[in-house]
Amino acid sequence: MTPSRKQAVRRTAVLRREAVVTTVPVAVAALLAAAGPAAAGTTGSSGAGDPYFPLAGNGGYHVAHYDLTLGYDPRTGHLDGRAVLTARATQRLTRFDLDLDGLKVTAVTVDRIPAQYRREGQELVVTPRAALPAGREFRVAVTYNGTPEPVTDPDGSDDGWIPTSDGAFVAGEPQGAMTWFPANGHPVDKSSYDFTITVPDGTTAVANGLYLGRRTADGRTTFRWRQPEPMAAYLATATVGKFQVQQYTTADGLKVYNAVDPREASAAAPVLKKLPSVLAWETKLFGPYPFRAAGAIVDHAPKVGYALETQTRPLYDKAPDLGILVHESAHQWFGDSVSLTRWKDIWLNEGFATYAEWLYSEQHGGDSAQETFDDLYARPSGDRLWAYPPGDPGNGKNIFGAPVYDRGAMALHELRTAVGDRVFFRILRAWATGHRHGHGTTERFAALAQKESGKNLTGLFHTWLFAQGKPGKPEAPTAS
Ligand code: ARG
Ligand code: ZN
Repeated sequence: MTPSRKQAVRRTAVLRREAVVTTVPVAVAALLAAAGPAAAGTTGSSGAGDPYFPLAGNGGYHVAHYDLTLGYDPRTGHLDGRAVLTARATQRLTRFDLDLDGLKVTAVTVDRIPAQYRREGQELVVTPRAALPAGREFRVAVTYNGTPEPVTDPDGSDDGWIPTSDGAFVAGEPQGAMTWFPANGHPVDKSSYDFTITVPDGTTAVANGLYLGRRTADGRTTFRWRQPEPMAAYLATATVGKFQVQQYTTADGLKVYNAVDPREASAAAPVLKKLPSVLAWETKLFGPYPFRAAGAIVDHAPKVGYALETQTRPLYDKAPDLGILVHESAHQWFGDSVSLTRWKDIWLNEGFATYAEWLYSEQHGGDSAQETFDDLYARPSGDRLWAYPPGDPGNGKNIFGAPVYDRGAMALHELRTAVGDRVFFRILRAWATGHRHGHGTTERFAALAQKESGKNLTGLFHTWLFAQGKPGKPEAPTAS
C-alpha cells in the first residue's frame, strides 16, 4: 500500500560553529595558561549558544566518544548509570559543564582523579583537580542513579526517558538525552557511542548501531551495542521492553535489527518488510546510506504521540504506516548524518523527510508531489500551515509544527519546480554527500542550490523559508 495524500500531509503535530575543532595556537594557549585560572574564558559555557535551547550543549570541549553502562529495572523504574566520556578541550578549562537533568550523581572523575562537581538546574558543573590545557584529550567518568523522568518540551510534548508498561521509550529530541546520561546535548557535537545495558531476563534493551551480543546471568541480561559513526546525543536510544527480535543482513550488507512489541507485531510486519526496499530507494535518490546498521524499534507507547529518527534504528510509538517509515528512514540522511548546526534550521530535517514521503508516493503509484503541494497550497491564508515561516520558526515551541514539516517540504518542491528534476536531485545528493557525518545550515543549502543550478534563488528561498504568511503564486526564477 502506498501512502495516501492524507498520510503525506498527516503531520499536524507530531552551530556547526564548525564542529569546534579549532585548535588554539600554542602561543595563545601558553598566554592563557600564564594568565591563570582567574582569566576570562577558562570555564566552559553552560550552553552551545543556541537561542532556542540556551542551556543545551556546552562550550569548551568536544566529546569524541560516550561509553554508557546502564542498568534498568522496569518494575521500579530505577536506573543505574556510569558514563565515560572521551573529550577534547577546545580551550583551557578550569571548569566545564555537562547536561544532566534529575538523577543523583555519586562520583565524577577526570582522568581517574576525583573531581569536584555541583548541580545547577540541568547543568552538572565539573571542576577537575588541575586545569585542562586547550587541545588536551581527557576522560570524564560520571557515576549516577535514580528514577529518570522525561523532560517536557516547550510545545508540551515529552522527550527523554519515558517509562512504559514494560520498560522505557527513550527518545531525546530535542533535549531529552540529559534525562538519562550526562551529555553535551546539542547536535553541533557528534560522537561515537558504546552501550552496555542490563535489564531483567526476558526484557530487551535496544540501542543504536551494531548489536554486539548479550549475556545472561543471575536473572539479568546485558545487551551490548556500538554506534561507530558520529551521532548527536538526541538521536541516542536505550529503549527497553518485551520485544520480538528479528535480525538479518541486507543484500547491500546492512545489519538490520528490528525489535517489535508483540502488541504491535501484526500491524508492523507488512511495513517493516519494506524497510530494505525503502532504504534502497532512498539510497538511489540521496546517495549511500550513511551507517552500517539499520532497523526499527516498534514500541507500544500510546502516551508518546510521535516517532523519532533514532540513528540507524528509528523508534516508533506504535506500528508505523509506510509514510512514517519512509520519513524516519529519510532522516538517516537528513538530520542524522547531515546534522543541524542550530535548531532554527529544523526544516533541513523535517522538510526534507516530509518531502521524501511525497516523492515516495509519487514514485509508487500514489499522489504526485505536485498534487500534495496543491492540496496544501489550497489551504486558506488563516490556516496554521502559514502561521510562521519554516526557516525561522522563532522559538523551540514551533520546531515540530506544520509550517516546518509541510511548508518546509513545499519549499523543496518549489526549488524542484524552479531548477528541474535533474538539478534538484543532484542538489539533494550533493547535500547528503557533501555534509555526510557533518553539519549544515540553511544558508549553506541555499548556496549549494544556487551553485548547482546557476540560478538566482534568493527570492524563492526568501518567499518559502522566511516570509511571513501564505506565499503568493510562485514566479519563475531568473538565471544568475
Ligand atoms: N523528529 C521527529 C519526527 O519528525 C519528531 C520528534 C518530536 N519530538 C518531540 N519532542 N515532540 O519524526
Ligand atoms: Zn521528522
